[in-house]
Amino acid sequence: MASFDVINPATGASVGTVLNANADDARNAIEGAVAAFPLWKAKTAFERSNLLRRWRDLILKNEDAIARLMTSEMGKPITESRGEVKYAAGFVDWYAEEGKRAYGDIVPSHVANKRLLVIRQPVGPVYAVTPWNFPAAMVTRKVAPALAAGCTVVLKPAEQSPLTAVLLAELWIEAGGPADVFQVLTTADPVAVSEPFFADARVRKLTFTGSTEVGKLLYAQAARTVKRVSLELGGHAPFLVFEDAEIAAAVAQVMATKFRNAGQTCVCANRIYVHESIRDAFVAKMSDAVRALRVGDPTDDTTQVGPLVDRAGLDKVAAHVADAVAKGARAVVGGQAGQGLFFAPTLLVDVAAGMRILDEETFGPVAPVVGFTSEADVIAAANNTPYGLAAYLWTRDLGRAFRVSEALDYGIVGVNDGLPATPHAPFGGVKASGVGREGGRWGLEEYLDVKYVSIALP
Ligand code: SIN
Repeated sequence: MASFDVINPATGASVGTVLNANADDARNAIEGAVAAFPLWKAKTAFERSNLLRRWRDLILKNEDAIARLMTSEMGKPITESRGEVKYAAGFVDWYAEEGKRAYGDIVPSHVANKRLLVIRQPVGPVYAVTPWNFPAAMVTRKVAPALAAGCTVVLKPAEQSPLTAVLLAELWIEAGGPADVFQVLTTADPVAVSEPFFADARVRKLTFTGSTEVGKLLYAQAARTVKRVSLELGGHAPFLVFEDAEIAAAVAQVMATKFRNAGQTCVCANRIYVHESIRDAFVAKMSDAVRALRVGDPTDDTTQVGPLVDRAGLDKVAAHVADAVAKGARAVVGGQAGQGLFFAPTLLVDVAAGMRILDEETFGPVAPVVGFTSEADVIAAANNTPYGLAAYLWTRDLGRAFRVSEALDYGIVGVNDGLPATPHAPFGGVKASGVGREGGRWGLEEYLDVKYVSIALP
């Protein structure tokens, strides 16, 4: 099969056809990236910055086209897609500047006639694998720091949403970017296409965003040629609402973090722990908010929740709800699938340990609420998971804000903040949620090697 169709999850119709790359295409892309690397590395940070800024301008100029494409290929509501284009451009903007600050160090010498220098150099050609849930921002979050650092990149986008990545690469060319410096390989056979990258020691880095299950397989593959790795994997975010929380603000933010992208982000609140003394008031307010969500055509400006990306995603959400209800949970709002790939926004109460929804990432528009009475118990429950990406807590007590955020085993903690991610801050997890950080100066370091130069003076 030389090409494959990209399917609109809201309608089931094809929205375009892309090249179905194979292992030979992968090998050609690697040759291009390897040949282009010394030339790209030799450019000054200022030259690379100028190109990145032109790319950012074109991304912003084409906001509407990119947003529409993204919505049509993976079902994100159009207002969120527009927001994502700005978020994506924000990474390019940040790294266009941050690349100029890849400073070295001078280490005080232990002997009079030596000078000890530390310099930072690009790691080399990069293989980047991106997910379907943020088809633009996950591309620029990896590609912009890599290019700013002086690396070349071959990107394999998810087969559900390759069109946005292809358009971003076209805009890179339009900006004057060299074609072999940033290439996109679309494929419906990711295993065959990835193999040449893992076999080739000249590809120096793997960066992946996706599930923990796939991340572990790629981590093992990358070990064959000892590549640097950045892995941004699954999450199972707890959202802790203490008795002194401002309920209206907590509900507004849990709605934003839970139902964004139909619940398909790895930082979505997955387990909502509410202090027993305010649980009924919280559930009443949240039920109203969930009922009021507008579900429907994602191209409509008023839609807040679109479809799930595919049948497997929908089946997992339905299975989590069915399992919870069979074990005693109650759906106070929603609880069932709609037409096609839609699932009704759902609020579950009477959720308890032993239900799948408290152990696994749901990746859908389902909010399970669990009561608690003690700070120590809720911290233990929040940390009782292999995952450690994002956690949230709601309190007006400053001491508790510090105490709990320090006790949570997570890479990101939002204190009275349901949407902490931003291009200039570190994003990433601990434990099974991954390795490394994206965003800010931490994201640039992932693409730089440290070289120590010791100079003995004659
Ligand atoms: C993700 O779900 O991987 C990204 C979420 C974000 O950047 O806010």
